[in-house]
Amino acid sequence: MTREEAVKKIIFAMDVKELSDVQLWSELLASHVGMFKVGKQLYTACGPTAVQMIQKCGGEVFLDLKYHDIPNTVAMASLEAAHLGVKLCDLHAMGGYEMMNTTMETLDKKFSVAERPRVLAITVLTSSNEETLRSIGVQISVHEMVVKLAKLAQKAGVDGVVASPQEVGLIREACGKDFLVVTPGVRPSFASVDDQKRIMTPADAVKSGADYLVIGRPIAAADNPVSAAEAIVDEILAGQA
Ligand code: C5P
Repeated sequence: MTREEAVKKIIFAMDVKELSDVQLWSELLASHVGMFKVGKQLYTACGPTAVQMIQKCGGEVFLDLKYHDIPNTVAMASLEAAHLGVKLCDLHAMGGYEMMNTTMETLDKKFSVAERPRVLAITVLTSSNEETLRSIGVQISVHEMVVKLAKLAQKAGVDGVVASPQEVGLIREACGKDFLVVTPGVRPSFASVDDQKRIMTPADAVKSGADYLVIGRPIAAADNPVSAAEAIVDEILAGQA
């Protein structure tokens, strides 16, 4: 893997709520990470302007709004994400086959695969456990449910999933090597664990098959965020040696 390929694997979680911070982080990190993740907080506060600001600084965007609604609504929202020019967006696999398939067909009617965002499915949120599943009437284990939903998403034409590092192997086995796997919960050896419970190092996450790593605080809270991003790239490359 080249250094450039390793840089492209890092998605910086832009967990801020003001455009002035978006500008600062975009300028600082655009050439040191592969993408910026815009989530519900920033998007609710600042809307498409946040996405456009990142793009103007040369950054690519993962619009992490986790759509879950009736098929037509999710398809239309995803079209707008495509119009914004984001590279990744996501929806909940629990919305079902029809919701996911209608979305993918709608995107594919209007855009070529190269032009449209890659769409990821959320399987089981890592904040959910067996007890959470039981309480909503699901009787199988978290791992079984993750695999079931990943396969359903793949059948519906979705491009990949967001998964915890521990689930990457399972998903690779079930869905093959071309299915994208994006994983948060990554902690480089130099960083603190924060509130993440099931973590993996960048090198191990990539070795176990993750295509992209979502990393926030290990970069944002570092004394020198650029050096931290560089150190993460070094760790990924060292893991390949
Ligand atoms: O700062 P940190 O590296 O923990 O940030 C991880 C990012 O990934 C945050 O934006 C968080 O909301 C998101 N995320 C996560 N765990 C999940 C799904 C998303 O940490 N299971």
